[in-house]
Order: sequence, then C-alpha cells, then structure tokens
Amino acid sequence: MELDDGMRRRLVVLDGVGMTYRVRKGFLRSSAVRAVDGVDIVVHEGEAFALVGESGSGKTTVGKLSIRLLKPTEGRVIYDGADITNLPEKHLTKLRRETRMIFQDPYSSINPYLTVGETVEEPLIAHGVEDREKRLENVYRALEEVRLTPPQDVAAKYPHLLSGGMRQRAAIARAIVIKPRYIVADEPVSMIDASSKAEVLDVMKRLQKEHGIAFLYISHDLATTRYFAEKIAVMYLGRIVEVGDVDDVLSEPLHPYTQGLVASVPEPDPSNRFVERPAIVGEPPSPRNIPPGCRFHPRCPKAFERCPREDPKLQKVDGNRYVACHLYG
Ligand SMILES: Nc1ncnc2c1ncn2[C@@H]1O[C@H](COP(=O)(O)OP(=O)(O)OP(=O)(O)O)[C@@H](O)[C@H]1O
Ligand code: SF4
Ligand SMILES: [Mg+2]
Repeated sequence: MELDDGMRRRLVVLDGVGMTYRVRKGFLRSSAVRAVDGVDIVVHEGEAFALVGESGSGKTTVGKLSIRLLKPTEGRVIYDGADITNLPEKHLTKLRRETRMIFQDPYSSINPYLTVGETVEEPLIAHGVEDREKRLENVYRALEEVRLTPPQDVAAKYPHLLSGGMRQRAAIARAIVIKPRYIVADEPVSMIDASSKAEVLDVMKRLQKEHGIAFLYISHDLATTRYFAEKIAVMYLGRIVEVGDVDDVLSEPLHPYTQGLVASVPEPDPSNRFVERPAIVGEPPSPRNIPPGCRFHPRCPKAFERCPREDPKLQKVDGNRYVACHLYG
C-alpha cells in the first residue's frame, strides 16, 4: 500500500478492496459479479480526488465501499486511521457523523413531501441535536453555504419549486449540515443543465477549500473532473489502471485506456489537434466474464503478446504517477 504523496494526513484508505455481488438466478442458482477487484486508493484530508471510468467500471461501488455503505468481500477500508472493514453498523457512529454521499439525481434523492428546511434539518435530528433553535441556525448556515438565499425563504419551499441545480445544492446543504470531513459525490452534476453545473461545482470547490472537506468526485466527465479535482484514479472493469495528479494524467495520459478516454473529449486547444491518440473501440466486457491477462486487451490498440497472458500490476512510474500496463516498467 504505497500510493501516497505524503504531506496531508490520510483520511480514507482502500487497501486491496474487492466486491463481488451475488446475483440470484432462480431458486437455487446464483452468479457472481466481480464489480471491484484489488482497488487501492488514498484520499487525504481536504483533498478533491476523482474517480473516472466507463459505466459499470465500479465507481459507485468504490464510493459506497469507502464509507461502508457496502462491506467489501476482500481487502481493508481504513477511516482516519481505524480499520472499519468489519465493524458492525452500531460501531460506525464516527464514520456516519463525518461522511456523506451525494447522488446523481437531485429529483429522487430528496423527499418531495418535506420542505427544503426539513430536508436539511433531518440529519441533525438523526444525530441527536435536540435544541431546535440550534438546528435551525445550522440549517440556515448550510443553505447560505450553498448559496440558497435568503435561507429562511428557501427553507420554507418544497423541492418541486426548485430547479435541478438548486435541488442539488439543497442535497449538498443536507450533506454539510453535520459538518462532514469526507463526501462521496457520485456524478453530482451529470443530470443538471449546463448553466447550473458551474454553480454546483463552485459550491463544492469552496466547501473543499474553505472547510477542508475531502471529496471523492465520481464522474464520466473529464472537463468537470479537471476543474474540480486534484488527483484522479481511472477505473476499468473493477480495477484502477492509472492514478496521478489530475493535470498530469489528463494532459499526458499513459495508460491506453486513459488515452482513449481523453481522446474522446473534443480538443479545445487547436495546437493539439494533430496529437494522435486512439479512441476506445467496442463495448466494455461484462464483470461476469473478465478477460484473462490485462482485462483491457480485447480493446487495446497497443496490445502485444504478453497482454492476454499476464495481468499488469499498478506500478509507480514517476512521482505520484501509477499505471497498470505492460508498456511501462
Ligand atoms: N447491487 C448489485 N447487484 C449486482 N450487481 C451490481 C450491483 N450494483 C452494481 N452491480 C454491478 O457491478 C458493476 C459495477 O457497478 P457500479 O454501479 O459500481 O459501476 P459505475 O462505474 O458506478 O457505473 P455507472 O457509471 O453506470 O454509474 C456493474 O457491472 C453493475 O452491474
Ligand atoms: S497491458 Fe497491454 S493490453 Fe493492457 S493496456 Fe497495456 S498495452 Fe494495452
Ligand atoms: Mg455509478
């Protein structure tokens, strides 16, 4: 478990974490879905860490494992120095107080029958804050933090009166009202119209910078990732294939899969137009049937004879940069 760049304190560590879902098929039969396989991640205190990859690569599963909304089938999950892998729910009070998850869809993640104020107040009640005055003070402060103002007016509204971007900011207010240290934001802007995306991202960036909240930012979208995150891990079929500082990885991707992801984004800089990078061809294989050797080999334009035979390990290539590919090391 290297994957560390030292200065800031480690807050969340996933150490060789795996997750196999059992899916029932009829009365006696079941099949295994190997959604996450041997994932190492370190999120430092106050850091914005992005997790990107195609649909089904295991990003949401990793996010949920990192706050023990799921229990891994292998490996360890460490939060603030304590091994929480096997702790029963009743011993997860510190984790539940200090971590939160924000979901993609602000329409279904908020109860339509509660006012915004009641929605944001709920976690305070759940965490035993009995003084109503104090709760309201915290609710209004959280609404101000996400720029839903004037907070007293917004608190009295029902969610259907808010736009998608405003609802997502209400969901963020609900997440921050208990003053968390770590938030898993699972595609938080992918269902929001373009004009509101920047507002939501700005709010999250400010919470990270000013309140030192660490984020796991899960996304398909490399442009918002580059804006929001400092570090990035690229996932392919349940594995991390590349990790590094976000600018390094997205400016000069090393893994052929990351190169394909970057190539599929239109190039805003005309001077880079002729840099040839192959886009990714074909559909990702199913986690029910993982290819042998390097699991990317059936789609990799640079595959050679070693690739279907040997599974590449994630190795340090330089500074903070790690890559799982036989072309390196
Ligand atoms: N509860 C579950 N039971 C069975 N299989 C599951 C379950 N949840 C996820 N999976 C499978 O695990 C794999 C990873 O899913 P996950 O939702 O973590 O991927 P993702 O990268 O978040 O995808 P997306 O970008 O579509 O949200 C997928 O093949 C998915 O079908
Ligand atoms: S190990 Fe081989 S198949 Fe896998 S990404 Fe590298 S070159 Fe491609
Ligand atoms: Mg997901």
